[in-house]
Amino acid sequence: MQRFVLSILAICALVLTVSMASAAPECPADMKLTAPEGYKVTKTPVDFSHAKHKAAEIECASCHHTWDGKGEVKSCAAAGCHDQPGKKGENTYYSAFHAKDDKSCLGCHKAKKKAGNTVVPVSCKNCHPK
Ligand code: HEC
Ligand code: HEC
Ligand code: HEC
Repeated sequence: MQRFVLSILAICALVLTVSMASAAPECPADMKLTAPEGYKVTKTPVDFSHAKHKAAEIECASCHHTWDGKGEVKSCAAAGCHDQPGKKGENTYYSAFHAKDDKSCLGCHKAKKKAGNTVVPVSCKNCHPK
């Protein structure tokens, strides 16, 4: 009987471990993006919707480009990522959102606009309302 109880417990522990390891994080609800504390802010906060990008079939990894698809999703300004002041260079906070590549908001939107999308905002005031 004791052995039976122990094996049931072992199975429960295994099931729990497996389900925790494979549970991908949920997309957060609509967000307002603001610079990290201490950053000298010059623009208004930006609205961001995971749901709308999901509907447009943009992959998680298009934006979360260092994510392994399982673990924790880092914030853009995490240490060693886009945590530098100024505008030049891949590791600046600014570049995460405006660099001329597909991973940044503005970079991707410009490419999509060129390809004919009429919804993507590409002007400063459409993302940073006055
Ligand atoms: C179009 C870009 C984009 C796509 C696609 C995207 N995200 Fe995000 N996600 C963001 C941004 C921007 C943030 C805010 C990051 C920050 O706070 O620095 C964020 C934040 C998150 C966070 C919170 C992280 C934290 O800072 O604590 C999670 C979790 C997350 N996303 C999961 C997902 C998952 C899962 C998918 C795919 C189903 C996904 N995201 C798709 C841009 C995106
Ligand atoms: C890899 C490409 C890609 C990236 C990166 C991306 N977007 Fe988008 N975004 C899109 C596409 C495609 C649409 C248009 C969806 C549609 O056609 O309905 C869109 C639409 C939007 C819209 C308009 C939504 C609406 O329907 O009114 C906003 C606002 C927006 N994005 C903000 C952001 C912000 C802020 C970021 C960066 C944190 C970002 N996007 C990053 C591809 C991208
Ligand atoms: C597609 C959306 C989008 C567009 C278009 C856009 N930005 Fe941003 N910008 C962001 C996001 C997202 C952030 C990060 C959130 C924040 O800090 O407000 C940001 C942050 C910034 C920052 C750093 C934070 C601050 O407040 O100083 C500056 C500077 C900036 N943007 C300037 C501009 C300028 C200038 C333009 C027009 C050339 C522009 N942005 C166009 C999305 C956009």
